[in-house]
Amino acid sequence: MKKLISLNINDKDYEVAVSTDQTLADLLRYELGLTGTKKGCEVGECGACTVIMDGRPVNSCLVLAVQANGRTILTIEGMETDKGLHHVQEAFVDRGAIQCGYCTSGMILSAKTLLDRNAHPDESEIRMAISGNLCRCTGYQKIVEAIESVSEYKNERSLSKS
Ligand code: FES
Ligand code: FES
Repeated sequence: MKKLISLNINDKDYEVAVSTDQTLADLLRYELGLTGTKKGCEVGECGACTVIMDGRPVNSCLVLAVQANGRTILTIEGMETDKGLHHVQEAFVDRGAIQCGYCTSGMILSAKTLLDRNAHPDESEIRMAISGNLCRCTGYQKIVEAIESVSEYKNERSLSKS
């Protein structure tokens, strides 16, 4: 059975017919071509499928597409702007926080959510914010350093403005 839903993804409005058992992850990847959202475990354990829904990170493998009706979604594709990569993305590249990249979309979206509400998180706050995002490659240290470097960059910018 299909149901028509409306949602906003990366500042673009969509109206799409979805199956009532279809997940948001599958809608993004297979119907809308937004394959930056990854699927790992599909049971809410790995965070590879993290997207931001109404300002909060969610595991899109656990959200039914019909539950996204009327919601605002940000995926990794929406992070880049006309001016280029988002500064969180740049930090991950600059600090070598990416290896295979499978966890990276979800990791960056979790980091963005943290930095939006806390511009200068300490290490334990960063580790807590990404605790739902598993990485098999990096050992996490470079990811934590990348997120810390964004808050340092923001600090420098606010100091240079004062
Ligand atoms: S694929 Fe969704 S949490 Fe692992
Ligand atoms: S970079 Fe490979 S899983 Fe994180």
